[in-house]
Amino acid sequence: DEAIRIADLAQQMGIKAQDLIKNLIGMGVMATINQSIDADTAAIIAADFGYDVEKIGFSEKEFLAPVHEDKEEDLRPRPPVVTIMGHVDHGKTSLLDVIRKSHITSGEAGGITQHIGAYHVTTPRGEIVFLDTPGHEAFTAMRARGAQVTDLVILVVAADDGVMDQTREAINHSKAAGVPIVVAVNKIDKEGADPDRVKRELAEHGLVPEEWGGDTIFANVSAKKKIGIDELLELVLLQAEVLELKANPNRRGVGHIVEARLDKGRGAVATVLIQAGTIHKGDAFTCGLHAGKIRAILNDQGKMLKEAGPAMPVEVQGFDGVPDAGDEFVVVADEKVARKISDSRKGKQREKELAKETKFTLDKFLAAK
Ligand code: GTP
Ligand code: MG
Repeated sequence: DEAIRIADLAQQMGIKAQDLIKNLIGMGVMATINQSIDADTAAIIAADFGYDVEKIGFSEKEFLAPVHEDKEEDLRPRPPVVTIMGHVDHGKTSLLDVIRKSHITSGEAGGITQHIGAYHVTTPRGEIVFLDTPGHEAFTAMRARGAQVTDLVILVVAADDGVMDQTREAINHSKAAGVPIVVAVNKIDKEGADPDRVKRELAEHGLVPEEWGGDTIFANVSAKKKIGIDELLELVLLQAEVLELKANPNRRGVGHIVEARLDKGRGAVATVLIQAGTIHKGDAFTCGLHAGKIRAILNDQGKMLKEAGPAMPVEVQGFDGVPDAGDEFVVVADEKVARKISDSRKGKQREKELAKETKFTLDKFLAAK
């Protein structure tokens, strides 16, 4: 697992990298100066030169509490996280807008509404967390890494347009991730709207409505005329109930980046969707290649929080750089650990890049011959 770069090992032993490489070749190990060898090989080669290698290797795993280790009795119900997907202009943002406007408790607002790409709403039947379209990117990035943040997808399909390219894409994404889909047939107020046509087209893609013997839930809505919105939310919550979503709030916080940006005044800020545990102001954390200490936590209403628990989307300040959508956010013991993990990851990243460069140069060299 642990490895050391040839250049670094040679430097530490005070010998030329070339000599080290020569010895390695003697052992049958082919490596270039920028490549790494494992600790055992390093120990053998160092012994050749009269050195002892002491393993003070560092495994970040020791410092990261795994997400899935929670005991059943520590788990508490949590709200569903729902991603809204669909073709361009089919009404994703409009739908989310009406949902938010009709379910934001007045008085809760602490000022200007933030754009954090993720929203928490309270309906009479329960709480729901929504990821807006920018969530698309994060969704894909997280799926690529095997992480699951979305419990449900609302697939928005315009009743006057039907199934289009990105509708199909969204279906494929959701199926690949094993996430159930609730269909919102939108724009039913429009002339030429044909919700049944949408049903037929989706049925061809395996999304067969319940009334036709399938198991996909459909809701006819109009974001513009505010028709069917509460029914849609109820269906989403019903579907979520079946999933029995739970998380342990009493552990170090872990989550994923939904989106991140560089803010002029506040530095790197990111929307973090907490998945388990609770994050607190002052907590040290790692996130992708970055580290930091939580300087501020804001909710989707721009309100300052001291802490945030499972399924909460919050804006976090205190990053030492801008993370990527989909990066894992993990609270660790202290800043020293956070820095160590980040340094170790940056080192590995640099190695990978150098290895790529070396290969590239070699490829070019071979191609030129
Ligand atoms: P992108 O983010 O660009 O992919 O689009 P979107 O899916 O978020 O669609 P958006 O909410 O921006 O809506 C696109 C257009 O459709 C806007 O002009 C909306 O006013 C209109 N629209 C959305 N919902 C409805 C609806 O229920 N009825 C009617 N008539 N128009 C709607
Ligand atoms: Mg939109």
